[in-house]
Amino acid sequence: MHGASGTLTMDGTTDLRAKYIDAIANAGDEAALEAVRLAALGRKGEVSLALKGLGAMSPEERRIAGPALNALRDELAAAIAARKAALADAALEERLKAEWLDITLPARPVQAGTIHPISQVMDELTAIFADLGFAIAEGPEVESDWYNFDALNIPAEHPARAMMDTFYMARSEGDNRAPHVLRTHTSPVQIRHMETHGVPCRIIAPGRVYRADYDQTHTPMFHQVEGLAIDRDITMANLKWVLEEFCRAFFEVDTVELKFRASHFPFTEPSAEVDIRCSWEGGQLRIGEGDDWLEILGSGMVHPKVLQAVGVDPERWQGFAFGMGIDRIAMLKYGIPDLRAFFESDLRWLRHYGFAALDLPTLAGGLSR
Ligand code: PHE
Repeated sequence: MHGASGTLTMDGTTDLRAKYIDAIANAGDEAALEAVRLAALGRKGEVSLALKGLGAMSPEERRIAGPALNALRDELAAAIAARKAALADAALEERLKAEWLDITLPARPVQAGTIHPISQVMDELTAIFADLGFAIAEGPEVESDWYNFDALNIPAEHPARAMMDTFYMARSEGDNRAPHVLRTHTSPVQIRHMETHGVPCRIIAPGRVYRADYDQTHTPMFHQVEGLAIDRDITMANLKWVLEEFCRAFFEVDTVELKFRASHFPFTEPSAEVDIRCSWEGGQLRIGEGDDWLEILGSGMVHPKVLQAVGVDPERWQGFAFGMGIDRIAMLKYGIPDLRAFFESDLRWLRHYGFAALDLPTLAGGLSR
């Protein structure tokens, strides 16, 4: 039965159906499927055009072809929708496979970074002094000359000011006040602490200090820990015991021998520099044995003028102070030969000398493992 348009027979509908059902099944992705949809059901699609051709048919032709074509259109539309859903499912399945992550896997140890030996040593000495009853005090790194010098019995013309290679901060034009300094030692924290907390007191103050100096054993920025203990009857004997106790715990040896060498600091009287017995045999440093001595700190009984500067009566109160080089004792304990390497941020150095991040030093668990 060929109509006037010459486009359709019952067989023609059957051919179209076979062609498009097949094409839909074979469409591999959404774009291919859309192309099939346009070819069949789009405005100029084969099925659409056939439906348009109905108008030109004779009534009997149309009675047969009309329902057949409408049924075909609906069937193809449904098949396309089903195929589209199947393709979307497959795509999701594919993505889920690619993005799969096993969250039940145990965490792998990631070597993200290490604790710098200075930080490690600060943690260690904090643990030791806390055990001895010392609290932590802090002060600013930019200091007035009053805290860094005058209050510590170092007046303006005192040679100690020149000896310390002080970094001075610039004042603005026309400002004639004494310049601030980068603190040359942690001793100003003694002053600040007694001013705000009074006496008696027992503190350590670890932190950065600055002096214009640079060679294998000096860097312009380095670290000290200040110690201060003031009470009614504290003596040099207490100082000696505290320092020996500290060194034994810090260097993790049973015996240490300290030598108190008479010295001079404006803020202590009497004053002593302290050396520790060690040996360099075979190029390896051992603390507590041998015939060598290494200087590790300055110390003494707090000068009456220092107590007076913070309004503490030296007739009623007395005590000791010390200032220890943290970088120095870190080099000694961990066999680090050049101080400058501490501050060069060389990753290979940091990995070699650094400490595991989660190994917090405690006296009970071991300071350094
Ligand atoms: N402040 C001194 C220094 O930097 C060390 C020190 C501290 C000495 C306390 C005696 C008492 O060298």
